[in-house]
Amino acid sequence: MNFYKKIRNIAFLTEPEKAHKLAISALKLGIHPPSEYDSKLLQQEILDIKFKNPIGLAAGFDKNGEVPNQILQSGFGFTEVGTVTPKKQIGNKQPRVFRLEEDLAIINRLGFNNDGMDDVYSRLSRIQKKGIVGINIGANKDSKDKINDYLIGIQKFYKIADYLTINISSPNTPGLRDLQTGDNINELLQSIGAIKKESVKTPIVIKLAPELSKKELENIINKSIENNIDGLILTNTTTKKNNLKNTKFKEELGGLSGHPLMSQSTKMLKDAYIISEGKIPLIGVGGISSADDILKKIKCGASLVQLYTSLVYEGPNLISNLKRNLIKKMETEGVHSIQEIIGTEVK
Ligand SMILES: Cc1cc2nc3c(=O)[nH]c(=O)nc-3n(C[C@H](O)[C@H](O)[C@H](O)COP(=O)(O)O)c2cc1C
Repeated sequence: MNFYKKIRNIAFLTEPEKAHKLAISALKLGIHPPSEYDSKLLQQEILDIKFKNPIGLAAGFDKNGEVPNQILQSGFGFTEVGTVTPKKQIGNKQPRVFRLEEDLAIINRLGFNNDGMDDVYSRLSRIQKKGIVGINIGANKDSKDKINDYLIGIQKFYKIADYLTINISSPNTPGLRDLQTGDNINELLQSIGAIKKESVKTPIVIKLAPELSKKELENIINKSIENNIDGLILTNTTTKKNNLKNTKFKEELGGLSGHPLMSQSTKMLKDAYIISEGKIPLIGVGGISSADDILKKIKCGASLVQLYTSLVYEGPNLISNLKRNLIKKMETEGVHSIQEIIGTEVK
């Protein structure tokens, strides 16, 4: 049993949100493993940004931008702060995060608890970034004009973010996912397209839910390309909770992440790659816990990947293990760069 697994047994006696707070506190104190296995093989340029490696920490871990540098120094190729909403929010009533250990999964219904854009902006603008930091923006629960909340977020953060993520796929803010369809998505993407034309040169990507129909996905992809959106993140958590082993929490409301999300989110990634014909960079998220999972996402069309839940189960050494195994597998397969294998399972 490795060291983290021993600590994990103790950490898992702690309520998930408390354990998360402890992890943030430890990172603030500089407690994290060093970055290892930084190889040229893993480097690439995507969204006009140079990435040291393709593995990012997904949104939701560092919601308030408290520890981006520590995350980067532990070996991630990039990190995504947020989701941040214009006004501070306390989120839903606790308990609202549940570990489904048998399934290597989590259900959360946090509901965009965050410090609000002003606080996060001042925190991030005080630090010297040590790598690629994306900022994921959202809308307040009580907002009367959710689309405008995203435009506020873009204006607030575009000068300090390496890229911006428009999160319209959280299942925990009523009505948010409706922004992915109908007139809403047209209006949102056209407004963003207009801002990009006028002034904002920071890459903007859209984060999607795994339950979209093919037709809805096709519409978003076509409109994204039309409006010069820079990339898509597939996917956020799922509201589908089929075939879970855990009996205690499987009926809890919220989004499911981790191992059970792998096949559903990868299928959508693959569909997106086919529909877009590789014309727009894709970031694959959902259920990644091994180098094989990363290779699968890349071969199904992802240029970059992100993870969150497996970090909870595997601990902070995960990132170095993933990089070491990824390099080994690429060498065995005779692969010289990530670029070389993007979408190869689809072509
Ligand atoms: C506790 C928790 C909080 C999350 N919060 C956010 C969030 O604020 N914004 C967001 O876009 N995604 C959020 N996510 C979703 C993740 O970014 C990711 O898309 C999802 O968990 C799938 O990846 P995974 O299976 O590797 O965890 C959250 C996930 C978890 C587990």
